[in-house]
Amino acid sequence: MTQTWVKVGRIGDIPQRGARCVKNGDMSIAIFRTADDRVFALEDKCPHRNGPLSQGIVHDGCVTCPLHNWVISLETGLAQGADEGQTLSIPVRLEGDEIVLGIGGLA
Ligand code: FES
Repeated sequence: MTQTWVKVGRIGDIPQRGARCVKNGDMSIAIFRTADDRVFALEDKCPHRNGPLSQGIVHDGCVTCPLHNWVISLETGLAQGADEGQTLSIPVRLEGDEIVLGIGGLA
């Protein structure tokens, strides 16, 4: 399936160590900005019980879910430590200061 890249805003729209949500159909996608200005995108759904990862704390390339403190890798969406599960990770890149999401083929 062809990858569709869509501009969804600027990195300056997201606070460092924060997140912002965009919708793609029924899916809510959380875009995270790390302290060193990298961006990652995950479905805004914790693999534990669907907690809103966009409201979690970003640290060390991970986000801690606000509900029960699972730690999810921003890069892979995998739960860390003893917890098991994976959140869908969405391709994202920066073009200058613009955030571009690769959302082709997603439901
Ligand atoms: S829903 Fe995220 S840790 Fe429970």
